[in-house]
Amino acid sequence: MEELLQKIESYQLEITAATAVNAEEAEAFRIKYLGTKGIVKAVMGEMKNVPNEKKKEFGLTLNAFKQLAEEKYEQLKQNAGTGSSTKKEAIDFSLPGDDIQLGNRHPLNIVRNQIVSIFGRLGFAVAEGPEIEDDWHNFGAMNLPEDHPARDMQDTFYINDPAVTGGAAWLLRTHTSSVQARVMEKQKPPIRVICPGRVYRNETISARAHCFFHQVEGLYIDKNVSFADLKQTLYFFVQEMFGKDVKVRFRPSYFPFTEPSAEMDISCLICKGDGCPVCKHTGWVEILGSGMVHPKVLANFNIDADTFTGFAFGMGIERITQLKYRVNDLRLYSQNDIRFLKQFSGAL
Ligand code: DAH
Repeated sequence: MEELLQKIESYQLEITAATAVNAEEAEAFRIKYLGTKGIVKAVMGEMKNVPNEKKKEFGLTLNAFKQLAEEKYEQLKQNAGTGSSTKKEAIDFSLPGDDIQLGNRHPLNIVRNQIVSIFGRLGFAVAEGPEIEDDWHNFGAMNLPEDHPARDMQDTFYINDPAVTGGAAWLLRTHTSSVQARVMEKQKPPIRVICPGRVYRNETISARAHCFFHQVEGLYIDKNVSFADLKQTLYFFVQEMFGKDVKVRFRPSYFPFTEPSAEMDISCLICKGDGCPVCKHTGWVEILGSGMVHPKVLANFNIDADTFTGFAFGMGIERITQLKYRVNDLRLYSQNDIRFLKQFSGAL
């Protein structure tokens, strides 16, 4: 009897000191003490050898012993479940933590933010519009009526076929010029906004073309806005973006929503004007389209073209990023390859 009580006591000490770092160890504890062939069962089996007058006292000891084992098991199970170890003393809280891998901005967002900041300094606010557009905002309002041949310049993804569904066409906007329309229908001049955003065209994906890309549109409408203002604004932008050595040139062009229209080239940053594949050996690269807002566009929004004039421009963010960071393949921007993306971690 004495011997048995001593045994129970040493088991109790063992149980109190037991630990489990994971669910397997907690289970091992259960099997050892509480299993069908476990210690608690074995000790209970000793009851039959205990003299009758001691049975009551021994019963109480046994119950307490069993309860201790059960409670300990519950505790071990819980700790193992939450992953925390009961070996608290083993954790050294003074050790430095593991490095956290910080992400970084996408190069297109870096450049977008730079563009927004440069124009912000000239008083341009940011305006946004939907990527799913109706025919009017993307084309009609921008002086591209139905059957206008210039619609073919931009291969459009249509969401519905009006010939089948009736009503107006819904499409993925082909340019951020649609946001000009969104702004003019809500706001009266003076208007001074830039509109960054994603645009879509039905193009086969290659190093030089993609079915989605990003543009920044600019629109400035006020009294006495002239082509000289357009040139000076864009010249300021280029110098801030690429540095003071960059030269610009304007070439006459055609866009339905501007008259006159011009495309702006900058001197090639890669070869400094000597000629290379990026500038197709001309020393110049085109970076944007621009012009004076067409009177018909103003009229679409009841803006009096005798009182107000304006300029607009649209540039591709991928193109600016390519020139700034020498990225030669457009597909890299959407492949999410961490080896490509992490190269831009130094920039804001
Ligand atoms: N929307 C034109 C494009 O996607 C770019 C553009 C050209 C925008 C001239 C303008 C502009 O605002 O004046 O190709």
